[in-house]
Amino acid sequence: MTAPSSPSRIDTSKPHPARVYDWLLGGKDNYPVDQEVAEKLPPEARHNAMRNRAFMHRAAAWLAENGIDQFLDIGTGIPTRPNLHQIVQRIVPSARVAYADNDPIVLRHAEALLVSSPEGATDYIEADVRDPAAILDHARTFLDFDRPLALSMIALMHFITDEEDPYGLTRTLVDALPSGSYLVLSHGTTDEHPHLATSVKNTYRKGEIPLRMRTRAEIEPFFEGLELVDPGLVTATHWYRTGPAPAEELSGFYVGVARIP
Ligand SMILES: C[S@@+](CC[C@H](N)C(=O)[O-])C[C@H]1O[C@@H](n2cnc3c(N)ncnc32)[C@H](O)[C@@H]1O
Repeated sequence: MTAPSSPSRIDTSKPHPARVYDWLLGGKDNYPVDQEVAEKLPPEARHNAMRNRAFMHRAAAWLAENGIDQFLDIGTGIPTRPNLHQIVQRIVPSARVAYADNDPIVLRHAEALLVSSPEGATDYIEADVRDPAAILDHARTFLDFDRPLALSMIALMHFITDEEDPYGLTRTLVDALPSGSYLVLSHGTTDEHPHLATSVKNTYRKGEIPLRMRTRAEIEPFFEGLELVDPGLVTATHWYRTGPAPAEELSGFYVGVARIP
């Protein structure tokens, strides 16, 4: 595990995305400032967080079943069982998973992410997706970049504003991966709930959390030049590889899994 060079403090005076999301998932690792934001979100937010998480479970399992045994997960969040490594190591016990998040509270809980299967390994770095070089430098010490791996960025990039160049950051990360690797991305949207767009944005803005929900057309470019696997770019509840997707369930997220040619 890599600690930050100057240990960052957990700031309980301001809400943080990881802790708001933890509250939405029913976790206990959040503070009154986070609860204040989470409670003002529409009731759909709780269901959406769970549906997003369920997509992560299905996508990670599918990748492991299809031979991927190394994962770089950025924007990991506060551990919520099963975490990504628990899902993939059930299928491939020797799988290696590198986690990264920029919230110091995730570092505090990182021990839960570091209990790997004996055959596999997990690693954690406190790092910011806006500094992809730092993440890649660290990941290269732990994962083998000469073999395919999966980069997952689940419910992360809507915290990156247009000015911070979310597409360029994603491209830098993807370009570092060998052919046959995968990008797994889920991204918040209000396409399905247009009437909630303003209230969700304002709630996060009051908490000083920049939020940039994007439309389907704005999420497509994250996958530019990549080969989306079936069922393509769909809402979280519709990403099913086996069996029919539940009908008409909303999720507030677009998701996709794409192969790097
Ligand atoms: C909504 S949670 C998603 C957690 C997990 N990926 C999931 O989908 O269940 C978003 C996570 O992204 C992290 N995050 C937000 N901005 C980030 C950034 N610039 N760099 C790294 N992590 C970030 C937050 O700290 C939080 O843990």
